[in-house]
Amino acid sequence: MVDLKTAINIRDLSFQFDKNTGPILEIASWQVAQGEQIFLQGASGSGKSSLLALLAGLQVPTFGEITVLGTLISALDNRKRDRFRALNIGVVFQQFNLIPYLSVLDNILLAANFGKERGPSLKNRAIDLLERVNLQRDLFGRKSSDLSIGQQQRVAIVRALINSPKLLLVDEPTSALDQANRDSFLSLLLEILEENSCAMVFVSHDNDIGKYFSNRIELSKLNQSGNHL
Ligand SMILES: Nc1ncnc2c1ncn2[C@@H]1O[C@H](COP(=O)(O)OP(=O)(O)OP(=O)(O)O)[C@@H](O)[C@H]1O
Ligand SMILES: [Mg+2]
Repeated sequence: MVDLKTAINIRDLSFQFDKNTGPILEIASWQVAQGEQIFLQGASGSGKSSLLALLAGLQVPTFGEITVLGTLISALDNRKRDRFRALNIGVVFQQFNLIPYLSVLDNILLAANFGKERGPSLKNRAIDLLERVNLQRDLFGRKSSDLSIGQQQRVAIVRALINSPKLLLVDEPTSALDQANRDSFLSLLLEILEENSCAMVFVSHDNDIGKYFSNRIELSKLNQSGNHL
Protein backbone atom coordinates (compact mmCIF):
# COMPACT_ATOMS: atom_id res chain seq x y z
CA MET A 1 0.00 0.00 0.00
CA VAL A 2 1.34 3.42 -0.91
CA ASP A 3 0.71 5.95 1.82
CA LEU A 4 1.17 9.48 0.48
CA LYS A 5 1.04 10.91 4.00
CA THR A 6 4.28 9.15 4.91
CA ALA A 7 7.70 10.69 4.22
CA ILE A 8 9.54 7.53 5.32
CA ASN A 9 8.29 3.99 5.77
CA ILE A 10 10.73 1.22 6.72
CA ARG A 11 9.69 -2.44 6.80
CA ASP A 12 11.84 -5.35 7.99
CA LEU A 13 15.08 -3.56 7.16
CA SER A 14 18.37 -5.33 7.55
CA PHE A 15 21.64 -3.77 6.41
CA GLN A 16 25.21 -5.01 6.48
CA PHE A 17 28.29 -3.73 4.70
CA ASP A 18 29.73 -7.19 4.19
CA LYS A 19 28.43 -10.65 4.90
CA ASN A 20 31.19 -11.57 7.38
CA THR A 21 30.43 -8.77 9.84
CA GLY A 22 26.68 -9.24 10.41
CA PRO A 23 23.99 -6.55 10.19
CA ILE A 24 24.68 -3.13 11.68
CA LEU A 25 21.03 -2.10 11.31
CA GLU A 26 17.86 -4.14 11.83
CA ILE A 27 14.70 -2.06 11.94
CA ALA A 28 11.38 -3.91 11.85
CA SER A 29 9.20 -0.86 11.31
CA TRP A 30 9.62 2.93 11.35
CA GLN A 31 7.53 5.74 9.92
CA VAL A 32 8.05 9.47 9.61
CA ALA A 33 5.02 11.51 8.54
CA GLN A 34 5.24 14.13 5.79
CA GLY A 35 6.29 17.49 7.21
CA GLU A 36 7.47 15.92 10.49
CA GLN A 37 10.90 16.72 11.97
CA ILE A 38 12.68 14.02 13.94
CA PHE A 39 15.84 14.09 16.02
CA LEU A 40 17.62 10.73 15.96
CA GLN A 41 20.32 10.35 18.59
CA GLY A 42 22.97 7.66 18.57
CA ALA A 43 26.54 7.11 19.76
CA SER A 44 29.46 7.25 17.37
CA GLY A 45 29.48 4.08 15.27
CA SER A 46 25.83 3.22 16.03
CA GLY A 47 24.83 3.45 12.36
CA LYS A 48 23.37 6.96 11.98
CA SER A 49 25.21 7.84 8.76
CA SER A 50 24.49 4.36 7.40
CA LEU A 51 20.75 4.82 8.04
CA LEU A 52 20.77 8.21 6.30
CA ALA A 53 22.63 6.69 3.34
CA LEU A 54 19.86 4.08 3.07
CA LEU A 55 17.10 6.72 3.30
CA ALA A 56 18.87 8.79 0.64
CA GLY A 57 19.18 5.75 -1.61
CA LEU A 58 22.98 5.93 -1.56
CA GLN A 59 22.98 2.40 -0.13
CA VAL A 60 20.39 -0.34 -0.57
CA PRO A 61 19.07 -2.62 2.18
CA THR A 62 20.41 -6.16 2.40
CA PHE A 63 16.78 -7.17 3.13
CA GLY A 64 13.56 -5.27 3.56
CA GLU A 65 11.87 -2.23 2.11
CA ILE A 66 12.32 1.53 2.29
CA THR A 67 9.56 3.76 0.92
CA VAL A 68 10.22 7.49 0.65
CA LEU A 69 7.37 9.88 -0.21
CA GLY A 70 5.34 7.02 -1.63
CA THR A 71 8.14 5.54 -3.78
CA LEU A 72 9.69 2.18 -2.93
CA ILE A 73 13.26 3.43 -3.38
CA SER A 74 14.83 0.14 -2.30
CA ALA A 75 13.44 -1.41 -5.52
CA LEU A 76 14.85 1.26 -7.88
CA ASP A 77 18.07 0.82 -9.85
CA ASN A 78 21.02 3.16 -9.21
CA ARG A 79 20.10 5.66 -11.91
CA LYS A 80 16.50 5.97 -10.79
CA ARG A 81 17.54 6.31 -7.15
CA ASP A 82 19.95 9.13 -8.09
CA ARG A 83 17.19 10.87 -10.02
CA PHE A 84 14.66 10.39 -7.22
CA ARG A 85 17.14 11.83 -4.68
CA ALA A 86 17.91 14.88 -6.85
CA LEU A 87 14.21 15.67 -7.24
CA ASN A 88 12.90 14.87 -3.77
CA ILE A 89 15.52 14.60 -1.04
CA GLY A 90 17.99 17.11 0.39
CA VAL A 91 21.04 15.59 2.02
CA VAL A 92 23.52 17.33 4.33
CA PHE A 93 26.47 15.00 4.70
CA GLN A 94 28.54 14.76 7.85
CA GLN A 95 31.56 16.07 5.89
CA PHE A 96 29.32 18.39 3.77
CA ASN A 97 30.88 17.19 0.45
CA LEU A 98 31.00 20.72 -0.97
CA ILE A 99 33.18 21.10 -4.04
CA PRO A 100 36.19 22.94 -2.58
CA TYR A 101 37.28 24.89 -5.68
CA LEU A 102 33.77 26.13 -6.58
CA SER A 103 32.30 29.27 -5.08
CA VAL A 104 29.50 29.13 -2.52
CA LEU A 105 26.95 30.14 -5.16
CA ASP A 106 28.25 27.68 -7.78
CA ASN A 107 28.10 24.80 -5.30
CA ILE A 108 24.39 25.54 -4.89
CA LEU A 109 23.67 26.18 -8.57
CA LEU A 110 25.37 22.91 -9.50
CA ALA A 111 22.93 21.03 -7.26
CA ALA A 112 20.08 23.03 -8.80
CA ASN A 113 21.06 21.64 -12.23
CA PHE A 114 19.75 18.26 -11.13
CA GLY A 115 16.42 19.65 -9.95
CA LYS A 116 13.19 20.56 -11.77
CA GLU A 117 13.48 24.33 -11.87
CA ARG A 118 15.43 26.29 -14.48
CA GLY A 119 16.29 29.88 -15.21
CA PRO A 120 17.50 33.03 -13.46
CA SER A 121 14.97 32.69 -10.62
CA LEU A 122 17.13 29.86 -9.26
CA LYS A 123 20.01 32.21 -8.59
CA ASN A 124 17.65 34.55 -6.74
CA ARG A 125 16.32 31.66 -4.72
CA ALA A 126 19.89 30.59 -3.85
CA ILE A 127 20.70 34.15 -2.72
CA ASP A 128 17.47 34.38 -0.70
CA LEU A 129 18.24 31.12 1.09
CA LEU A 130 21.86 32.12 1.78
CA GLU A 131 20.59 35.35 3.29
CA ARG A 132 18.00 33.46 5.36
CA VAL A 133 20.76 31.38 6.95
CA ASN A 134 22.71 34.60 7.64
CA LEU A 135 25.71 33.97 5.41
CA GLN A 136 27.39 37.29 4.64
CA ARG A 137 27.05 38.44 1.04
CA ASP A 138 30.81 38.89 0.55
CA LEU A 139 31.21 35.12 1.00
CA PHE A 140 28.89 34.14 -1.88
CA GLY A 141 31.70 34.32 -4.47
CA ARG A 142 34.38 32.75 -2.27
CA LYS A 143 35.68 29.20 -2.72
CA SER A 144 33.82 26.95 -0.31
CA SER A 145 37.13 25.66 1.08
CA ASP A 146 37.86 29.21 2.39
CA LEU A 147 34.82 29.09 4.70
CA SER A 148 34.72 28.11 8.36
CA ILE A 149 33.05 24.80 9.26
CA GLY A 150 29.95 26.59 10.57
CA GLN A 151 29.70 28.63 7.35
CA GLN A 152 30.15 25.48 5.25
CA GLN A 153 27.29 23.87 7.17
CA ARG A 154 25.03 26.77 6.18
CA VAL A 155 26.04 26.42 2.52
CA ALA A 156 25.45 22.66 2.67
CA ILE A 157 21.95 23.24 4.09
CA VAL A 158 21.11 25.76 1.37
CA ARG A 159 22.41 23.35 -1.28
CA ALA A 160 20.18 20.65 0.19
CA LEU A 161 17.13 22.97 0.13
CA ILE A 162 17.62 24.51 -3.33
CA ASN A 163 15.47 21.93 -5.13
CA SER A 164 12.59 22.33 -2.63
CA PRO A 165 12.80 18.77 -1.27
CA LYS A 166 10.00 17.22 0.76
CA LEU A 167 12.53 15.33 2.89
CA LEU A 168 15.76 16.71 4.37
CA LEU A 169 18.36 14.36 5.86
CA VAL A 170 20.96 16.06 8.07
CA ASP A 171 24.07 14.39 9.47
CA GLU A 172 25.34 16.71 12.19
CA PRO A 173 29.11 17.12 12.17
CA THR A 174 30.77 17.01 15.57
CA SER A 175 30.88 20.48 17.15
CA ALA A 176 30.45 22.55 13.97
CA LEU A 177 28.81 25.43 15.77
CA ASP A 178 29.11 27.02 19.17
CA GLN A 179 26.05 27.08 21.43
CA ALA A 180 24.78 30.56 20.50
CA ASN A 181 25.10 29.97 16.76
CA ARG A 182 23.54 26.55 17.07
CA ASP A 183 20.49 28.02 18.84
CA SER A 184 19.76 30.55 16.12
CA PHE A 185 20.71 28.19 13.33
CA LEU A 186 18.45 25.32 14.40
CA SER A 187 15.47 27.59 15.10
CA LEU A 188 15.92 29.10 11.64
CA LEU A 189 16.24 25.73 9.94
CA LEU A 190 13.07 24.45 11.62
CA GLU A 191 11.25 27.64 10.57
CA ILE A 192 12.29 27.21 6.90
CA LEU A 193 11.17 23.57 6.97
CA GLU A 194 7.77 24.47 8.48
CA GLU A 195 7.19 27.03 5.72
CA ASN A 196 7.92 24.41 3.06
CA SER A 197 6.20 21.46 4.83
CA CYS A 198 9.45 19.58 4.52
CA ALA A 199 10.10 16.53 6.73
CA MET A 200 13.53 16.14 8.33
CA VAL A 201 15.59 13.44 9.99
CA PHE A 202 18.42 15.12 11.89
CA VAL A 203 21.00 12.73 13.36
CA SER A 204 23.62 13.51 15.98
CA HIS A 205 25.51 11.92 18.84
CA ASP A 206 24.74 15.05 20.88
CA ASN A 207 21.62 14.63 23.04
CA ASP A 208 21.56 18.35 23.76
CA ILE A 209 20.42 19.16 20.22
CA GLY A 210 17.27 17.12 20.89
CA LYS A 211 15.79 19.99 22.90
CA TYR A 212 14.96 21.85 19.68
CA PHE A 213 12.74 19.00 18.49
CA SER A 214 9.39 17.77 19.74
CA ASN A 215 10.04 14.35 18.20
CA ARG A 216 13.13 12.58 19.51
CA ILE A 217 14.19 8.98 19.21
CA GLU A 218 17.27 6.95 20.07
CA LEU A 219 18.68 4.78 17.33
CA SER A 220 19.34 2.03 19.89
CA LYS A 221 15.55 1.81 20.52
CA LEU A 222 14.84 1.48 16.81
CA ASN A 223 17.69 -0.81 15.91
CA GLN A 224 17.40 -4.46 16.95
CA SER A 225 20.81 -5.50 15.61
CA GLY A 226 23.66 -6.22 17.98
CA ASN A 227 25.31 -2.91 17.04
CA HIS A 228 24.31 -1.07 20.24
CA LEU A 229 27.21 1.26 20.79
N1 LIG B 1 31.84 1.70 4.15
C1 LIG B 1 31.86 0.91 5.23
N2 LIG B 1 32.28 -0.37 5.16
C2 LIG B 1 32.26 -1.17 6.24
N3 LIG B 1 31.84 -0.79 7.46
C3 LIG B 1 31.41 0.47 7.60
C4 LIG B 1 31.40 1.40 6.50
N4 LIG B 1 30.92 2.58 6.94
C5 LIG B 1 30.64 2.42 8.25
N5 LIG B 1 30.94 1.15 8.65
C6 LIG B 1 30.72 0.59 10.00
O1 LIG B 1 29.33 0.62 10.31
C7 LIG B 1 29.10 1.02 11.64
C8 LIG B 1 28.20 2.25 11.65
O2 LIG B 1 28.90 3.34 11.05
P1 LIG B 1 28.22 4.77 10.82
O3 LIG B 1 29.19 5.60 10.07
O4 LIG B 1 26.87 4.58 10.23
O5 LIG B 1 28.06 5.28 12.34
P2 LIG B 1 27.63 6.73 12.90
O6 LIG B 1 26.56 6.49 13.92
O7 LIG B 1 27.31 7.62 11.77
O8 LIG B 1 28.97 7.22 13.64
P3 LIG B 1 29.54 8.74 13.85
O9 LIG B 1 28.67 9.38 14.93
O10 LIG B 1 30.93 8.53 14.32
O11 LIG B 1 29.46 9.45 12.56
C9 LIG B 1 30.46 1.28 12.27
O12 LIG B 1 30.82 0.12 13.00
C10 LIG B 1 31.39 1.46 11.07
O13 LIG B 1 32.67 1.02 11.35
MG1 LIG C 1 28.21 9.35 11.07
